[in-house]
Amino acid sequence: MSDRKLTLTDPQSGKSLDLPVVSGSEGDPTLDISSLHKELGYFTFDPGYGMTASCKSDITFIDGGEGILRYRGYPIEQLAENSSFLEVAYTLLYGDLPTSDQFSGFERDITYHTMVHEKINTFMQGFHYNAHPMAILAGVVGSMAAFYHDKLDVKDPEQRELAAKRLIAKMPTVAAAAYRHSMGWPSAYPKNSLPYSDRFLHMMFSVPAEPYEINPVAAKALDLLFILHADHEQNASTSTVRLVASTGANPYACVAAGIAALWGPAHGGANEAVLKMLNEIGSVKNVPEFVKRAKDKDDPFRLMGFGHRVYKNYDPRATIIRKQCHEVLAELGKQDELLDLAMELERIALEDDYFVERKLYPNVDFYSGIIYKALGIPTSMFTAMFAIGRTVGWVSQWLEQAANPTRIGRPRQVYTGPTERSYVPIQNR
Ligand code: SDX
Repeated sequence: MSDRKLTLTDPQSGKSLDLPVVSGSEGDPTLDISSLHKELGYFTFDPGYGMTASCKSDITFIDGGEGILRYRGYPIEQLAENSSFLEVAYTLLYGDLPTSDQFSGFERDITYHTMVHEKINTFMQGFHYNAHPMAILAGVVGSMAAFYHDKLDVKDPEQRELAAKRLIAKMPTVAAAAYRHSMGWPSAYPKNSLPYSDRFLHMMFSVPAEPYEINPVAAKALDLLFILHADHEQNASTSTVRLVASTGANPYACVAAGIAALWGPAHGGANEAVLKMLNEIGSVKNVPEFVKRAKDKDDPFRLMGFGHRVYKNYDPRATIIRKQCHEVLAELGKQDELLDLAMELERIALEDDYFVERKLYPNVDFYSGIIYKALGIPTSMFTAMFAIGRTVGWVSQWLEQAANPTRIGRPRQVYTGPTERSYVPIQNR
């Protein structure tokens, strides 16, 4: 900890307190306020924790002003260009890029755990055919503690690592099974001879009646999207995973809570909401009307896929995905008028003072759905796709939290309800 400090003086008592400044390897200086209540009798008020660091972490760094994102110090642009999702998974989990032997061992471990207990497939049948895939994912992942209860001691590093690998390996299997359930297709078992993203496509789209050929363009595009969604420091779902982990809950319960948090349209559910929004806008001529609605405080409509709590610059992931949209559509020989619409919407919004003043730029969710759609993935599965990538971040952050357990997370409040009053018997009310 640096010897920098901020002195706070209470005008009521005249008492002063030196608040130490906590500095990381980079990022904004942060006040350690842990002694504030004991010394001066104050708590702090920060709804949505916009100004509050919940933990120290070595995993992901974001500079929102500069639009910088790095996993374990490696810039997202370089990982997107040179790496694979499974190599990025290793790096997020263990801290450094793997040697070829380390990678082969990790890939073998993940491949070994791709199947789920057969009773999970039976459990899946209990959902209605039109159950939202995120409802199935949250339910099935939470239930995994009932199937993999043999290795759930979170104090044992080996059992923690096994649970992390199981979750990374099985999330695609469960997500693909949720899609097949909605299609009325039989389960597709993982084909371990295939690489991670190819294997997912095979589980999603292969049918027993005919051979399924994986399009390498689709597999590469998917692998890149998984990389871009892998981690994002203390976002709502990851903070949820860490909060649940602070109670000592098992990893499947922690990740199921993260899935539930991701589902919200303000978070990972935004990619599904963007496609619905673009379809509602319908054509470029309607863009000005919807931009006007997005600015109207009395209208609940927001530009989905726009804005970010941390990025006050272009989300570097959106830059990569927007470029990839053009490449994937061209390589698949597809057109999508929604891409043209999205780009016109972005152009008009970024020329409008309302968005410029509030530093509202496209985020990771604005363009990703265009690619999912080009790969034949239905809108209802978009957030489940986000969850597959983010599982690596959730388990990496869970491992970091479980290895360095903190006190149980328990925010305070500003109470605004009634002060003490006496009970009144019903006949006197
Ligand atoms: C993700 O945290 C992460 O890292 C998340 C994520 C990850 O990888 O984990 O990056 C993934 O969740 C991306 C965000 C996906 N959500 C959306 O695209 C939904 C639309 N965006 C908004 O709901 C909003 O921008 C949030 C939720 C993303 C951020 O909300 P904040 O930080 O609480 O911002 P805010 O609501 O305080 O907005 C500040 C101002 C407000 O106007 P004023 O009160 O100043 O007049 O900007 C306005 C807001 O009304 N605003 C928008 C807007 N987003 C913010 N106005 C219109 N359209 C929008 N999209």
